[in-house]
Amino acid sequence: MTRPHKLLGNLSQKRFLDEFWQQKPLFVKNALPELPTLIEPDELAGFAMNEEIHSRLIVGKELEVEYGPISEERFLTLPENNWCLLVDAMDLWSPKIKKLLNHFDFLPSWRLDDIMVTYSVEGGNVGAHFDHYDVFLIQGLGEKSWKLGGICDEDTELSKHEDLRVIHDFKHEREFIMSTGDMLYLPPRYAHYGITLSESITYSVGFRMPSCSEILSDLAVELNTKSNFPKYISDPRLKPIENKDHISNEYLIQIRARLSEVLDDDELLLEWFARYMTEPKYPESMDVTNEERIATIDLNNSKKAIPTTGEIIKKFKNGRLLEG
Ligand SMILES: [Fe+2]
Repeated sequence: MTRPHKLLGNLSQKRFLDEFWQQKPLFVKNALPELPTLIEPDELAGFAMNEEIHSRLIVGKELEVEYGPISEERFLTLPENNWCLLVDAMDLWSPKIKKLLNHFDFLPSWRLDDIMVTYSVEGGNVGAHFDHYDVFLIQGLGEKSWKLGGICDEDTELSKHEDLRVIHDFKHEREFIMSTGDMLYLPPRYAHYGITLSESITYSVGFRMPSCSEILSDLAVELNTKSNFPKYISDPRLKPIENKDHISNEYLIQIRARLSEVLDDDELLLEWFARYMTEPKYPESMDVTNEERIATIDLNNSKKAIPTTGEIIKKFKNGRLLEG
């Protein structure tokens, strides 16, 4: 679609996806000019007292992390400045906050992770850091300064901190001051440092994607459940042994052949991916949150190494294939 999108500063969705998504930050002043109050600070604190809800306090210049549930007494003893409260997946607990997702119709729904809500007071921050996912920061209340550095990787030096991955010697290249209704999109691995200037609420709309090691480990579990997938490799044709300890490179061919069977099976990979991406974030709370994650896959034109019969278009909900 090419129509201008309000959240994206009237860029067309195509232009945003082509030029910014997963590539570079986008700051939009007044992206949501009529953003109402979606949650009061006291209300958010109430959610952080609930043991079913993941929350953290980050306090003081040393950025000490305290994990929720947070007690009422603790809230009463917090200092005047330099702390923030982060509450995960508030889209599941607050229908008003969930409505923010209506602004994200330009992205696949199954990519959504959650909306984290951060309440902070002057000086409050979580340190300069980078994330591995895409995030749209929407300022709800107050002002925050966001300093942006460059792209980080596994070699980026981190400070010694037990709980947080804080970038050592962070240097910024740009700074944005965000106030109510402003939006900042950050691609994965972009260094950022948000410092609260006045009592603030920020909504972080995050998008999930598995890492390569998560793909391999989760897929391995799935393969174990497949009775039609061969579990062991065979020996290559063995020759009379010259060196008892040597592993011949022909074993590599056997291993690669087995793995290729998996990689060539579109149905297996697509089904696994749909299941993985629709896994509920908080399965234990689904009765209350009505968490619902849906994805469909299309097996037309797919390669099938291990043929199965069934529907060509398959629908998945909350990690399961919907039959019929
Ligand atoms: Fe972040």
